[in-house]
Amino acid sequence: MALKRSLETNHSHVMGGGRGIAVLLLRTWVGAAAVAALGAPGGKPLAATPPMGWNDWAHYQCRYTANTILDNARALVSTGLAARGYDTVTIDDCWMQKDRDARGNLQPNPKRFPKGMKPVAEAIHKLGLKFGIYEDSGYATCGGWAGSGQPQGGGKYHFLQDARLFASWGVDYLKLDACNVYVPPGETKEEAYRKAYAAEHAALKAVGRPIVFSESAPAYFQGTPEWYDVLRWVRHYGQLWREGTDIATYHADHPDASRFHSVLWNYAYNLPLGRFQKPGNWNDADFIIAGDRGLSLAESRSQMALWSMMSAPLILSSDVAKLSPEAIAILGNRAVIAVDQDPLGRMATLVRRTGEMDVLFKPLANGDDAVAVLNRSAAALKVELRPAQLGFAATSACRLDAQNLWNGKRQSDVGALEAEVPSHDTVIWRIRASAACGRPTRTGTLTLTDNVRRRQHSLYGYARCLVPGSVEACSGAAEESWTVTPQGALRSSGGRCLAVAYGKPVMQACRAERAQHWRYTLLGNLISAADHRCLGTAGGESGSQKLALQPCGHNLPNQIWSLPN
Ligand code: GAL
Repeated sequence: MALKRSLETNHSHVMGGGRGIAVLLLRTWVGAAAVAALGAPGGKPLAATPPMGWNDWAHYQCRYTANTILDNARALVSTGLAARGYDTVTIDDCWMQKDRDARGNLQPNPKRFPKGMKPVAEAIHKLGLKFGIYEDSGYATCGGWAGSGQPQGGGKYHFLQDARLFASWGVDYLKLDACNVYVPPGETKEEAYRKAYAAEHAALKAVGRPIVFSESAPAYFQGTPEWYDVLRWVRHYGQLWREGTDIATYHADHPDASRFHSVLWNYAYNLPLGRFQKPGNWNDADFIIAGDRGLSLAESRSQMALWSMMSAPLILSSDVAKLSPEAIAILGNRAVIAVDQDPLGRMATLVRRTGEMDVLFKPLANGDDAVAVLNRSAAALKVELRPAQLGFAATSACRLDAQNLWNGKRQSDVGALEAEVPSHDTVIWRIRASAACGRPTRTGTLTLTDNVRRRQHSLYGYARCLVPGSVEACSGAAEESWTVTPQGALRSSGGRCLAVAYGKPVMQACRAERAQHWRYTLLGNLISAADHRCLGTAGGESGSQKLALQPCGHNLPNQIWSLPN
């Protein structure tokens, strides 16, 4: 593991043994004291595995009362989903009034919460569940209700006062949104957001209750260069963060409008962000709408499998009592949940992307691995995956034992994984490779992340594949497969390495030399160890682009890469 991670070095962070010990070197106004992680009792980091639970938003938006929340909490228990890990019930926007009381405290909306918030929290705790709440780091929530942040024009924050109130109610989880953040003159938007999230972090620390902190800040920068800067600091303050567009919500007036495009979009922007993730720090691809109207059962399996391959939080947002037995079986699938909750917390590697499918690979803590194939196309797809494509030794002696996690079927001692994947479905296996396979190398696509166009519902606009010499729309061709070696070399499927010669990127026979070594930074740059410049592409945003070596810029879209994890 230490060897495998050695390519992930960065100027501003050092990752401790993969277990939440972060040594943070901050040179900003935030101050080192504000960034120490508040752990749960017993020394385990908060959210050591991705949070699981339920939230009202994607199904109800503001059409709910205390009873809606409690009915869903009870349904989590009665369906058995709570026992499978969905244990945190969070009330989203619209629970509060527009004004604070005479003491400056937030006030629950009396129509929705006639007895206030505490009894709701108590009832949730009595069910053996945890209680989560929504607030906003601006002066108003997205719905226009009272926020914790500075008033428009400047003034007093309410982070500490609100955190004390939440702790007095027994809040265990806070989702802090970021609509309406006031940006004082002379400050950048990013600075204003960072101050607000640092202040909330300090407030939660001061109240002393372990409260999981879900940050929405990055979502307000998606599509801008600062997105990556924000993604770099959120992990110092909270345990999970929303990076982008909301998952499509349910609407009673068109309940069966398909929401699969939204699942694919959120998956597409979350997948290249594996370098930001580790136990206690999770990329949040937004709610699980699997099982609700707008997704078929196949599409529901896809969302669960994809989110689990990414170790994304599993926060249901549906009417739990109305879920079908088939939906509950998908959401409650123990083996799939175990992939999501695997203690390593690794993001899946995109092994291969064609017009129809994505192949994903993820190492697991007990030495097993998980493999998934998403079929985006309208027709069933036959797949055959050989161990070498997944990073195992290319020898016929390498054999796999595999279990299909949806139907439980086992294959023993096979030379390839085979399946027919129905349209919009995702097959997911847990595999154990024989000794002859060796440990898998970091093998898969090396993509250039294009974060320029927000709300671009196209996977191809989002990530393009490195091939020797250029970057192309991913097609699944063998030359799109690369292995990242423990020394930091990038070896193509043809067995040659990406090197720097006479100031240009070239392919050469692999040799242990600096001209073939690359340093991967948290911001996503690949820096030549010999030349100290960055691997980038020359030219515009689309089509085929030639590789070039360039002075490293700050968050230049043509220099931001996603590597096998
Ligand atoms: C959005 C957020 C949603 C929901 C909504 C409430 O910004 O992404 O998940 O919280 O605000 O107004």
